[in-house]
Amino acid sequence: PERCVVAVDGPSGSGKSTVSRRLATAIDGIYLDTGAMYRAITWAVLHAGVDPQNADAVLKIAQETDLSIGTDPAAPHFEANGIDVDAAIRGPEVTGAVSAVAAVPAVRAMLVQLQKDIIAAAPRIIVEGRDIASVVAPDADLKVYLTASAAARAQRRSAEDATDVTATEADLARRDKLDSSRAADPLRQASDATTLDTTGMGIDEVVAELLSMLNSKV
Ligand code: C5P
Repeated sequence: PERCVVAVDGPSGSGKSTVSRRLATAIDGIYLDTGAMYRAITWAVLHAGVDPQNADAVLKIAQETDLSIGTDPAAPHFEANGIDVDAAIRGPEVTGAVSAVAAVPAVRAMLVQLQKDIIAAAPRIIVEGRDIASVVAPDADLKVYLTASAAARAQRRSAEDATDVTATEADLARRDKLDSSRAADPLRQASDATTLDTTGMGIDEVVAELLSMLNSKV
């Protein structure tokens, strides 16, 4: 397609990132990882020694942080205040604090505006997150909600990070609960999104399925 916006939402470990990057490459588009934006702000909060539960202080850091957002699906590189944060934003400290930061409404408003600007400027873009179909890109050409069983999600994540599968499953459950129960734009499925349960599906299979959905829409 010449122009298209694809929204990919779903819980942690549903395969969103891998699938979204592959899809972006397949359509020669760019890739926006909105979770990485919340993670980079969280990194800056922790780096400044600010308590992630202190909403006012968190917002101040978010406003002062110069974010560099990489959108190349082959290498989505992020910097915060000129510092490479690619590894740190995947670490346990950031993962443990990101849901609190992402629950601050004014932080969300700021990042959602940035996301909308990036989408508006891109001819073809795959956007992944929690609130893309409902809030960030309600006019997306294709809206997908990726899920997978808790066990499958934990297995994928622990294979990626080489962490213990039981601990990973507990952490995913903890974040799902926080992300689904927060007041501001909680994780939920948009009524016009197509659900794809990827439990037992391979990456190639999921990407092929999404490409055929996209081709039938645009
Ligand atoms: O997708 P990822 O696991 O990297 O997202 C990290 C966290 O960022 C999520 O647990 C959620 O709290 C937050 N997030 C969000 N809205 C988005 C994307 C991520 O609140 N659109």
